[in-house]
Amino acid sequence: MSDLLHKAFDPENFRQSGHQLIDMLADYLRETQSDTNLKAIPWKTPDEQLKAWKEDEAQGKGDVMALFKRVMEDSIHIHHKKYMGHQVVPPAPVTALASLLSSLLNNGSAVYEMGAVANAIERVVVQRICREIDWQDEAGGFLTSGGTLANLTALLAARRAKSSEDVWLKGSGKKLALMVSEEAHYCVDRAARVMGWGDEGIIKIPADKRLRMHTESLEDYLQQAKAQGIEVVAVVGSACTTSSGTYDDLEAIANFCQQHKLWFHVDGAHGGTAVFSPKYRHLVKGMEQADSVVIDLHKMMLTPALTTALLFKNEADSYRTFAQQAQYLWSDQEEHEWYNMGKRTMECTKLMMGVKAYALLKSYGTEIISEYVTRQYDLGKTFASMIEKRQGWELAMPPATNIVCFRYRPEKQDETEAEQLNAYIRQQLLEEGEFYIVQTRLKNKLYLRTTLMNPFTTEKELNALLERIEEVAATWKSTTLNY
Ligand SMILES: Cc1ncc(COP(=O)(O)O)c(C=O)c1O
Repeated sequence: MSDLLHKAFDPENFRQSGHQLIDMLADYLRETQSDTNLKAIPWKTPDEQLKAWKEDEAQGKGDVMALFKRVMEDSIHIHHKKYMGHQVVPPAPVTALASLLSSLLNNGSAVYEMGAVANAIERVVVQRICREIDWQDEAGGFLTSGGTLANLTALLAARRAKSSEDVWLKGSGKKLALMVSEEAHYCVDRAARVMGWGDEGIIKIPADKRLRMHTESLEDYLQQAKAQGIEVVAVVGSACTTSSGTYDDLEAIANFCQQHKLWFHVDGAHGGTAVFSPKYRHLVKGMEQADSVVIDLHKMMLTPALTTALLFKNEADSYRTFAQQAQYLWSDQEEHEWYNMGKRTMECTKLMMGVKAYALLKSYGTEIISEYVTRQYDLGKTFASMIEKRQGWELAMPPATNIVCFRYRPEKQDETEAEQLNAYIRQQLLEEGEFYIVQTRLKNKLYLRTTLMNPFTTEKELNALLERIEEVAATWKSTTLNY
């Protein structure tokens, strides 16, 4: 073996740089929890960022600790108290340790032999979440790589269960469709198109004023689809929507699906975790009647990306999605073997993702998830009332979750000006980097959007954000920039 390979696998090298890395990350964590001058996002344009890394590469081999430090410093800081942007969780540190462990062990979970522990732990985690939903022993599922893939996989299961043709084996002669709120995450639309259903295959149900699916319209849309020869197989409920954090009326959708024998799928990527919070679990009432549910553990379950649970009320449904022989992996596709996850997941090789979530549960129990969800949803309400108390601010709607949408319109500007002002504010904040927030469009109006993901964010940071926005807005007219 070459010296290079020896060096790369040297245990003492690993020990030394591992200790240094953990020390560096622990200091970083401490800093993010303090009143730091560190920016939430050290903003560079994509071209600047790429140039910097090309220059780094041009310098050839170098010190890996310097690399780690630079990656850490130049990345967006999800653990920062002023990070309030997209729905990515600051992972609990123990889950990052579990990631390190599973990366080095690198067991898969397609087949039992290659991931005995990974498969068993994954099942324990999945069954724990099923019990929270109040599902019985026949429920089950698996973990997969993200909400997008999980929603697609659920809808493939729906197609298998509800379509009058066996599309998997014979292809489709029929026009198939699903129904979903116009406010749903774009990945549901994408899933329908991936399945070859085209425009007609995604029937968007209008949202009401509060941005909930207008469930009273479901019947009309179903009848219209039937009249056009379209076979609807599923209805997807959002729990909650991405832009505004609104929960659809899951009970109403469940009743509708039951009445028409349609598959009921809940996209609970962000808000399905409310099931752990005694205070907020009423928001997901009706989810227990779903055929399938998606929950992203990397959103509201303190676990690093990507870790997503795809759960089935009747686990048997999950075995019917894919029917392919893979003789070198397992001998009989028909056997329901929970321990050969590859029979049911889109992935073949898959990370040991259950270990990350289980490390959290083992250390702190489900109480930590309950506490986290409750705290962050409470904080959403606190932030909303802070906004309402200030002059010149508009709340898009009272928040149900930790997603809060609002805009600043101090002089009751007309819609065009209000839009330009808020786009300007968001761009200025991004370039300054002290805070990280995003923007969204609700009922065709542009709003600033925060998702309060960090358990260390308090009213102090929220107040500072509102003040900074007012200061930035005061520079608006003096700029000639056109956003
Ligand atoms: C409601 C909803 N569904 C699905 C997704 C996609 O999940 P992922 O980013 O894990 O693919 C998101 C992401 O924001 C979401 O909010």
